Amino acid sequence: MTDLPRLLAAHRPGHSLARPFYTDPDLYEADLQAIFYRDWLFAIPAAQLTKTGAYARMQVGAYNVVIVRGADGEIRAFHNSCRHRGSVLCKADGGQVAKLVCPYHQWTYDLDGRLIWARDMGPDFDPAQHNLRPVALRDLAGLIYICLAEDPPDFDAFAAMALPYLQVHDLHRARVAHSSTIVEKGNWKLVWENNRECYHCAGTHPALCRSFPLDPAVAGVSADGSVPPQLQAHFDRCEAAGAPAAFRMGGFAGQYRLARMPLQDKALSYTMDLAPASRRPLGRVALPDAGTLLKFHYPSTWNHFLPDISLTFRVMPISPTETEVTTTWLVDRDAVEGVDYDLNRLTEVWLATNDEDREIVEANQLGINSPAYTPGPYSPVMEDGVVQFVDWYLASMRRRVAPQTVAAE
Ligand code: FES
Ligand SMILES: [Fe+2]
Repeated sequence: MTDLPRLLAAHRPGHSLARPFYTDPDLYEADLQAIFYRDWLFAIPAAQLTKTGAYARMQVGAYNVVIVRGADGEIRAFHNSCRHRGSVLCKADGGQVAKLVCPYHQWTYDLDGRLIWARDMGPDFDPAQHNLRPVALRDLAGLIYICLAEDPPDFDAFAAMALPYLQVHDLHRARVAHSSTIVEKGNWKLVWENNRECYHCAGTHPALCRSFPLDPAVAGVSADGSVPPQLQAHFDRCEAAGAPAAFRMGGFAGQYRLARMPLQDKALSYTMDLAPASRRPLGRVALPDAGTLLKFHYPSTWNHFLPDISLTFRVMPISPTETEVTTTWLVDRDAVEGVDYDLNRLTEVWLATNDEDREIVEANQLGINSPAYTPGPYSPVMEDGVVQFVDWYLASMRRRVAPQTVAAE
């Protein structure tokens, strides 16, 4: 077993992590146990489940969860494991059902998880003792979060901070225009490190760089809390127009961040021609050049909310060196494909960007796999966001896996 407390204590601030953090199966399991099985995780946009009985499955480490919309309109999450002998109930990744019927012996559950039918179980059998095991779920303005912990950490502080920023985007009016899932052959932390800086953008993302600014203040964090005047002017203009914009971080060790950042001059959305991707906006952001509301929430999601469309990204580890990234493009429910938006134009910038990021994350992982790898220094100018992510990760591991190293600090 890897000596995790020693590795945590040996971390050199401002440097990338030691090799086992990116490669070691024991450490991967520790990441799942300490973070993914305990923190709130973004699952899906609520708009993905439009009708009664629509469901989506989600694999989190060893857990398989089914998220389903009930007849009352509520979205609930359950462990995808029958209360008879444990079979999975939903075998497909998504679909629509009238009831949740186990494929093994047809025990049948209502969409709210109640066992409503089980054949030949004898006179003493009490169905009420065999309802599906629920998973904690919150619907934050149309973003569905779940938590696998029996006793989930606080969600309310995050919800209170995020709600005003999100409400103007009307995600409950959204429709899923497209969804893409890719597997990056890299540790989940490398996916995040890549996301949290734009040091690589100029050399990697020709399409994205048409609209996304290279200013490190946009992708990063302001270590001293200061806001450059041009950003402050943008925040003020957005807020005067009713769209909350100021940079805010919160949660344990800065687990989440919100800021409505400007795009490049003249860019109104993530399109090659810089014009809006949809002519029928999703939400009520009155300023067409309000830019992009950037939200991240470790460990599972970053998002972009624009005046015309919204984008959700979900990060899920699937092995020490593989990570699934799911991107969902949301448009207004009345936006018509081919009339209000063109699917290729809507998706091409981020499909390309994701693939470019996949390539560099995979190259990063390959280099780290070599025993010759040693942690290197992050740029204090361009990679303060990465330092912030790594510090959040280490703090989370220290408090949950190795609290003695916290006491020693
Ligand atoms: S395992 Fe589900 S009905 Fe038997
Ligand atoms: Fe990138």
